[in-house]
Amino acid sequence: MTEIKRVGISTGGGDAPGLNAVIRSVTLASRNRGWDVVGIRDGFNGLMFPDEYIDGGLIELTRESVRGISHLGGTILGSTNRGNPTAYPMQQDDGTWLEVDRTPELLGRFADAGIDALVTVGGDGSLTIGNQLHQHGLHVIGVPKTIDNDLDKTTATFGFDTAVSFASECIDRLFTTATSHGRIIVVEVMGRYAGWIALHAGMAAGAHCILIPEIPYDLAPIAATIRQREERGAKFSIVVVAEGAVPAGGAVSTVGKAVGQAEQLGGVGSRVATELQELTSKESRSVVLGHLLRGGSPTATDRLLGLRFGAAAVRALVEGHDGVMVALDPPTVTYVPLAEAVYRMKSVPPDCDTILTARDLGINFGDRMPDTL
Ligand code: F6P
Repeated sequence: MTEIKRVGISTGGGDAPGLNAVIRSVTLASRNRGWDVVGIRDGFNGLMFPDEYIDGGLIELTRESVRGISHLGGTILGSTNRGNPTAYPMQQDDGTWLEVDRTPELLGRFADAGIDALVTVGGDGSLTIGNQLHQHGLHVIGVPKTIDNDLDKTTATFGFDTAVSFASECIDRLFTTATSHGRIIVVEVMGRYAGWIALHAGMAAGAHCILIPEIPYDLAPIAATIRQREERGAKFSIVVVAEGAVPAGGAVSTVGKAVGQAEQLGGVGSRVATELQELTSKESRSVVLGHLLRGGSPTATDRLLGLRFGAAAVRALVEGHDGVMVALDPPTVTYVPLAEAVYRMKSVPPDCDTILTARDLGINFGDRMPDTL
């Protein structure tokens, strides 16, 4: 293995609060070992398309440039969830699109930039690209990132705690207006095909019904819960819906899919609100929290996790690991092969303790009629 002198770091996919803490941690832990650190702009675009950047697409990361950034949301390097270099969409003369593998070109750019090792911070997409680069001989360490908490081989990813905290704060606010007007308010939250954000934020804020992708829903039990609450004198109800929630026998709601990008989820919240209004004759409103959950300052938990992951990635390089992802396995941070890390997503187990707790509290998931006590 070549001696490391210069480490590259890139942040790819949807941003997540805590990314800047990782960048700071990788930079300081590397510099404290005498290594140079360079940030690649917008995933791998800074290397692939240097002419599109005033600074050539690469930023030297120094102690000064990472000073005071851990508490900032977003990523100082920029990010992108389009233009995967291993399956790069290129339009043909006849207007059709072809996915081209530009890995050899990208590897050449790493060599030209004198980058001996890459720390790639991302979700399943960026980690899959990282694995491919590793298989072509680049020294790669992955750092898991997603607000969705759906990466299988780590018990947590930074960004999730911030998203859940902010979502529950928003739901708290919706409670007061829902109560004043005696309405149903349906809150749609991100999470892709996993219901972690909806479940945790809904539970923390005391939602009455929670719809998640792992439990296909029927709105009859939800309407029954709302009516039952009404009979008990509670004229309002809060329903939290994960963007990937699916009606039993139906499909996920999508906004569309652009070439070279993942499908964009959305629309289930307003659909549920409309249908509940019809079923209950109660006035309903829907709110989409969307990208608000990705923005803002990371919680202390996410800052700390980002710092731990960044330093662990550098320790992985020192210890000679390659092609691995750092992963939280409390109380420690371990390394798992990148190939295993992206093998499958982590869904909410329908029989997990949090779901059992929710059911004990009378929260309806749309799969059972409420108890009649
Ligand atoms: O994976 C993170 C995530 O925020 C999902 O929860 C959401 O579906 C998706 O990204 C949205 O991505 P975009 O940035 O393309 O809107």
